[in-house]
Amino acid sequence: MDNYVLITGGTRGIGKAVADCLGEAGYALLLTYVSDHERACRAKAELTEKYGVDVHVVQADSTDRASIEKIYAYLEKESITLDSVVFNAGITCRDSFEEMTLADWEKVFFANVHFPVFLLQRIVGQIREGGSVVFTGSLMGIQPHAVSVSYGVSKSAVHALVRNLVKSLVPYRIRVNGVAPGFVDTEWQKNKPAEIRRNIENKIALGRFCEPEELARVYRMLIENDYINGEVVVVDGGYSYK
Ligand SMILES: NC(=O)c1ccc[n+]([C@@H]2O[C@H](COP(=O)([O-])OP(=O)(O)OC[C@H]3O[C@@H](n4cnc5c(N)ncnc54)[C@H](OP(=O)(O)O)[C@@H]3O)[C@@H](O)[C@H]2O)c1
Repeated sequence: MDNYVLITGGTRGIGKAVADCLGEAGYALLLTYVSDHERACRAKAELTEKYGVDVHVVQADSTDRASIEKIYAYLEKESITLDSVVFNAGITCRDSFEEMTLADWEKVFFANVHFPVFLLQRIVGQIREGGSVVFTGSLMGIQPHAVSVSYGVSKSAVHALVRNLVKSLVPYRIRVNGVAPGFVDTEWQKNKPAEIRRNIENKIALGRFCEPEELARVYRMLIENDYINGEVVVVDGGYSYK
């Protein structure tokens, strides 16, 4: 039987790098995407050809609660039992404190916290005993940032969530961990002005952004190491050590 891993936001950025890393290791993949169906199909074709594993893509929007039922229904229809789940999809809002609205605050929290919690509650029975869940937090949940208040607080909540879920998942024999990336060179960061990027690099001991591929190997380690549970692994290249 195939070892399936569900990755939310798995066709781009960090999620796609995790998909590559796990596909190479022989895992079958169920990847969600929001809007770019063509890119999702390209990712599916590429991963299937490269690694010879089963790849499914499903449209799902983390700001829409109906997507929880959609993912559950897809797993049921395809009779997929999951080895692991990687909650990767996330959104931000960069409005200033004065400008931010309750609606935007709720949207960020819904996508980053509520959606993964209630998706997990819905599909926990479809994760095999001995499997695991990996959440994506952020360095911004540890080192507050001047902008993106809702994002930083929501990612702190993700870190707390990891530890709070450990006991809830014991009856299912499922481990739960998190990754708190620093600055990873995806579109999320590439779109920032050069000067801001240089300022960031100057604060990182290693002097550079993290490559998605090197971060992806941390997700794989958390999925495969049977004794790591309740940890949030910070991967920031030594931020603030410079
Ligand atoms: N890059 C960094 O420096 C960094 C640092 C710390 C944490 N993170 C976290 O890492 C995760 C991935 O970020 P990334 O750097 O890979 O960003 P990215 O390249 O901009 O990709 C964003 C990902 O989130 C998905 N997404 C966006 N809106 C969504 C929605 N409404 N519903 C479902 N999925 C949605 C996207 O799916 P589509 O491709 O379908 O649009 C895409 O997979 C996020 O949780 C982010 O907070 C990133």
